[in-house]
Amino acid sequence: MSNSKRKGLFITLEGGEGSGKTTMLQHLAGLLEQEGLPYLVTREPGGIRIAEGIRELLLHPDHTEMDIRTEALLYAAARRQHLVEKVEPALEQGMVVLCDRFIDSSLAYQGYARGIGIAEVLSINSFATEGRFPDHTYYLDVKPEVGLARISAGKGREVNRLDLEELHFHQRVREGYQKVAAMYAERITVVDASASPEQVAEGLKKHLRAIL
Ligand code: TYD
Repeated sequence: MSNSKRKGLFITLEGGEGSGKTTMLQHLAGLLEQEGLPYLVTREPGGIRIAEGIRELLLHPDHTEMDIRTEALLYAAARRQHLVEKVEPALEQGMVVLCDRFIDSSLAYQGYARGIGIAEVLSINSFATEGRFPDHTYYLDVKPEVGLARISAGKGREVNRLDLEELHFHQRVREGYQKVAAMYAERITVVDASASPEQVAEGLKKHLRAIL
């Protein structure tokens, strides 16, 4: 599964809560539609039943005893199944794959924010993906205060005590992403996601157009 054998183009979007990944994916899909290119928009676990099962284990509110390394391994396992069942076949057909979160989420959340270590989480993910990385990644960078406020505005409520308690964790996620972006400066474009959605979308589309 080396990148050199790749036919399609594998693009991922990364970012913290409220960074606008979902909206931006729709804009990028719109561009591919306009260009008449075959594409797939997906996200882990992507409707893959084995990955969905793993996801249920991960997100079940009763599973409070889950160890952080178990968590990291389960994300990597779900990633593997989604990659081989959905992403690889689409790339093989020459499609542009737009994926909401991939390996960098684990590096930022489990590796850095949860404190396992970026290098350790990278090693299990390299095993899971056989070294396959996205061709290009857009990291939507925004202060967690701004991201969380956007989510709250969407839900019609103010940022509550819980959100604020978690602020420190979200700050660590952002620091993690910034470190990962510096590690992979060639692959990852850091996008200022505090700008208006229209501005962010224009910037992203311009970049993607240039690498298609
Ligand atoms: P998700 O339901 O995809 O929500 P969103 O992308 O809209 O934030 O992700 C759920 C949570 O899982 C999110 O807080 C990020 C976290 N996550 C990890 O911690 N590690 C990972 O490898 C992935 C893919 C997600």
